Amino acid sequence: MDRILVTGGTGYIGSHTVVELINNGFKVVIVDNLSNSNIEVLDGITQITGTKPDFEKFDLCDRQKVIQLFEKYNDIKAIIHFAALKAVGESVEMPLSYYHNNLESLINLLIAMEKFGHPGLVFSSSCTVYGQPDELPVTEKAPIKKAMSPYGNTKQICEEIIGDAIQANNKLKAISLRYFNPIGAHKSALIGELPIGVPLNLVPFVTQAVAGIREKLRVFGNDYNTPDGTAVRDYINIVDLAKAHVVAVKRMLNGLNKNNLEVFNLGTGRGVSVLEIIDTFEKATGKKVNYEIVDRRQGDVEMVYADTSFANKELGWKAEISLEETLASAWEWEKYIRNKMNKSK
Ligand code: UD1
Repeated sequence: MDRILVTGGTGYIGSHTVVELINNGFKVVIVDNLSNSNIEVLDGITQITGTKPDFEKFDLCDRQKVIQLFEKYNDIKAIIHFAALKAVGESVEMPLSYYHNNLESLINLLIAMEKFGHPGLVFSSSCTVYGQPDELPVTEKAPIKKAMSPYGNTKQICEEIIGDAIQANNKLKAISLRYFNPIGAHKSALIGELPIGVPLNLVPFVTQAVAGIREKLRVFGNDYNTPDGTAVRDYINIVDLAKAHVVAVKRMLNGLNKNNLEVFNLGTGRGVSVLEIIDTFEKATGKKVNYEIVDRRQGDVEMVYADTSFANKELGWKAEISLEETLASAWEWEKYIRNKMNKSK
């Protein structure tokens, strides 16, 4: 059984990916500092898969600890690097934390990969690197635009760091996955997205508003140049997204990658507006979403959705789960986690 190191493995995308890795016969070790996740996520993963992954709690900015990790787990065959700070607004307020955290952890992993001769890295990147693309749907060849936030800039710089490291050492390999908007939860409702404090992202805000934790959803702007005036994104089911990571890992382990650095868009190819999300959520759950239209949110792009043909063809992967099912799963998770929290009060 090949072992995969998953950094940030108790986070939202990380936990769903760990489940898919275990389901595909991989052994997993998670590293997470739990700065934005909860140790109980491990119970959810264990309940779903019947296997408890190994877990190490530390900060990847600590190079010594990263080296010790590779000494302890000498069977690591590939790394999926999720661990990062990811709040756009917060990154504007504390840019140095973002640069320090997101760059240093990646550099430490690359140093360890070189030192221990581990060649494969799957990197968690974002469609934010495209900014507002000139052409839609956006392909991987679209120019990288100046980042709208320090967070976005860390993703761009990390991709550059990986590129330079590979340029200098042709034994290293990486696949950068540029996510569009991951939403929803595992169908068991045992793991999902659990924002700390007021959710910044759309779908967790919708589910919390419907659960009565937030008064009403604020829709940021209805004067965009889009069919209904609200901003358009490419919302991808979290389990579909997690499965793409398993494909990427297998591709590297089997030597199927054509270049030492490959980049793939992970989306559905379909642009969906904020009002369509509300409407589809209501249809999928039978629940009413209270909302009001407010001013645009600073830094938001108008419209972005993926050209997924390269990922579909090269990875043999495609997003499959419908938006209805995905939004219903987000609601099931919200109910589950509220219930659990209320019980433990
Ligand atoms: C952005 C980045 C993404 C990054 C993510 C991290 C882009 C295109 N995407 O996602 O790469 O990983 O932040 O958080 O830059 N909305 C509301 N009301 C709300 C919340 C959101 O109307 O309460 C709207 C937003 O204006 C936007 C859409 O919902 O149009 C999605 O917003 P969100 O879920 O925050 O994701 P992005 O901003 O697209």
